[in-house]
Amino acid sequence: MKMGSILVVLVLVNAVLYGLQAVANPPDLIKIQSAVAKGAVCLDGSPPAYQLDRGKDEGVNKWLLHLQGGYWCTTVEECSMRMNDSSGLGSSNKMTSLYFTGILSDNKELNPNFYNWNRVYVRYCDGSCFTGDKQESLVDGPYYRGGRIFYAIMDELLKLGMENASNVFLTGNSAGGLAATYHCDTFKNILPLSTEVKCLADASFFIHLNNPSGFVNLHGSVTYLPLSCTSMMDAASCLYPRNVVPDIQTPMFLLNSAYDTFQVASAIRLPENSDRSCLYNLTGCPTAVLDAWINFRTKFLQEVTDLGNLSTRGLFINACHTHSQSEFQSKWLGDPDSMLDNMTISEAVGEWYNDNKLIQLIDREHIYPRQCVVDASEPYACNNYTIGASYLCDVNQNKSNIPSVSHSYDRVERKMYYT
Ligand SMILES: *[C@@H]1O[C@H](CO)[C@@H](O)[C@H](O)[C@H]1NC(C)=O
Ligand SMILES: *[C@@H]1O[C@H](CO)[C@@H](O)[C@H](O)[C@H]1NC(C)=O
Ligand SMILES: *[C@@H]1O[C@H](CO)[C@@H](O)[C@H](O)[C@H]1NC(C)=O
Ligand SMILES: *[C@@H]1O[C@H](CO)[C@@H](O)[C@H](O)[C@H]1NC(C)=O
Ligand SMILES: *[C@@H]1O[C@H](CO)[C@@H](O)[C@H](O)[C@H]1NC(C)=O
Ligand SMILES: *[C@@H]1O[C@H](CO)[C@@H](O)[C@H](O)[C@H]1NC(C)=O
Ligand SMILES: *[C@@H]1O[C@H](CO)[C@@H](O)[C@H](O)[C@H]1NC(C)=O
Repeated sequence: MKMGSILVVLVLVNAVLYGLQAVANPPDLIKIQSAVAKGAVCLDGSPPAYQLDRGKDEGVNKWLLHLQGGYWCTTVEECSMRMNDSSGLGSSNKMTSLYFTGILSDNKELNPNFYNWNRVYVRYCDGSCFTGDKQESLVDGPYYRGGRIFYAIMDELLKLGMENASNVFLTGNSAGGLAATYHCDTFKNILPLSTEVKCLADASFFIHLNNPSGFVNLHGSVTYLPLSCTSMMDAASCLYPRNVVPDIQTPMFLLNSAYDTFQVASAIRLPENSDRSCLYNLTGCPTAVLDAWINFRTKFLQEVTDLGNLSTRGLFINACHTHSQSEFQSKWLGDPDSMLDNMTISEAVGEWYNDNKLIQLIDREHIYPRQCVVDASEPYACNNYTIGASYLCDVNQNKSNIPSVSHSYDRVERKMYYT
């Protein structure tokens, strides 16, 4: 896997200010200085950080915690490079405040179910999906302390009022979605029994194709991976949601595309341009590429099916060629091509959380990836890293704003499984 390229993409995706139209400043970045004494530090030894926008009205006792994504590091060298990364994915000294959009938005129109909750953007700077717990480290880092960071931030939020919350929603995308998966049940246990707790993992249903190299040993992750899994198999296998999700007791929602760009890019390994040009125009796409995609989707849907059928589990599995859909406004609410069964992601997640509705939507009809709308305000530069990114580029490498493409390749009539 081309870690460097993918990291750059994720840095762009995560650091870029999607909500340019937002008038207000983003919520302040708050660094937890007291966490340093507990050894809960970013890769470079700096304090962990979060951003908080306070709830109001009916949302005043409700908390939504969104764990930031941004891939991970699996070697000392990668983790060292991350410490200097301008995105802040390895150091709070380099972080900037990010806008709250999508599931984090404070705008009732843009985020009708959670806009007035206390919303927290938990910033990612440990490279371990919030699992690291290595005692020893070099004086100048990297420090491997992601698991400690998770609980140091939770301690702070409990004191800020989360200990009396009526509702808590632990969410995250990509690496943050993995973290939400690993911590879901233990997180519920730090809250009062009366608190309603649910979790959402966005763009983190990584299917088990390759054995992960080094991650667990480097970060000392075993303590913070679910015991229900690590007691049954080797810790490295417990990085994979399929080995963890079936044992999670807390209600869990899986939001993912069966054509997640990040996974497809790492799983299929095509020359960079072929993926993109095919997406732009499937008509000219080589059969080998299409077959590889379809093959990936088949495996993906099989793993989802293998999880078994639990009535508390929410599913929203669409076919957009995209990665991370909860944080980005156009995907969260607005893009008709992201919808399933006439529901936006925002509606599906909202009804599942608030109304305990059974939402299990799987797009079994679009056998090819869909070009879902890219919001014109997403200021992603098109570049040569786009194979793993969540936006499209046109043939001139310009950002593509193709609104509603005709899906002429979708021969079967749209059909959803909704229960
Ligand atoms: C990170 O930056 C520091 C200070 O600029 C430099 O001394 C160090 O070599 C850099 N480390 C890496 C891995 O690039
Ligand atoms: C939680 O509620 C209790 C009882 O009302 C109160 O004493 C405590 O200060 C509250 N905690 C926070 C962090 O507000
Ligand atoms: C897609 O590619 C085919 C074959 O190269 C071409 O005939 C067609 O005009 C292209 N469609 C678009 C919209 O560019
Ligand atoms: C789950 O079970 C229900 C009822 O037994 C069924 O209708 C539904 O299709 C199942 N969902 C999935 C995703 O298999
Ligand atoms: C989809 O939802 C829209 C807006 O709520 C509604 O106007 C439309 O009739 C719905 N379409 C279907 C097929 O249910
Ligand atoms: C992408 O790479 C090609 C070939 O290496 C180069 O010609 C082109 O300028 C690059 N595009 C961008 C946007 O960097
Ligand atoms: C697309 O990119 C080309 C070359 O980079 C540029 O000349 C052109 O103006 C761009 N078109 C649009 C619509 O932005």
